[in-house]
Amino acid sequence: MKEIKIESLFHVYDTIDELPKETKLLMLKAVEARKLAYAPYSKFKVGTAILLENNEVITGNNQENVSYPSGLCAERTAIYYAGSKYPYSRILKMAISAASSNQLTTKPIPPCGACRQAIAEYEVKQKSPIEIYFMGEIGNVICSHSLSNLLPLLFDKSVL
Ligand code: THU
Repeated sequence: MKEIKIESLFHVYDTIDELPKETKLLMLKAVEARKLAYAPYSKFKVGTAILLENNEVITGNNQENVSYPSGLCAERTAIYYAGSKYPYSRILKMAISAASSNQLTTKPIPPCGACRQAIAEYEVKQKSPIEIYFMGEIGNVICSHSLSNLLPLLFDKSVL
């Protein structure tokens, strides 16, 4: 038996104001998208803004459904749209903001496991890292330089 140790490095910004200008603007677009989320059941709204290499910004938010599993997270709503509209443009950055109407969300909210898997697909496809910034409604913003940092031991197409 041996052990493998996997380390992940994250950068933590105190607030949105500490982000580089372009990234702050992207996060503000995620905040705007978040406000338009359709989340009548969880009351937890999430917005995502994606910056593409061609300079387009794609936004998305969570879309819930009375049949709960039929809903979709903000990150996948946005990334699937980016993938369908601009399949040949690489994804440079994703900004994510989340807020609950039950309490003030001060903790950075990372993408869920299913969204990590979906984002990983595009990172592998484009062969370059996607930077991910995530926050709550206020407070710290966490940056992961790549999705792989959030999903170690990725399921790999080489086994298919
Ligand atoms: N949600 C997202 O949009 N992204 C995530 O990564 C986590 C969860 C949404 C799904 C659902 O509409 C609500 O947040 C509560 O889980």
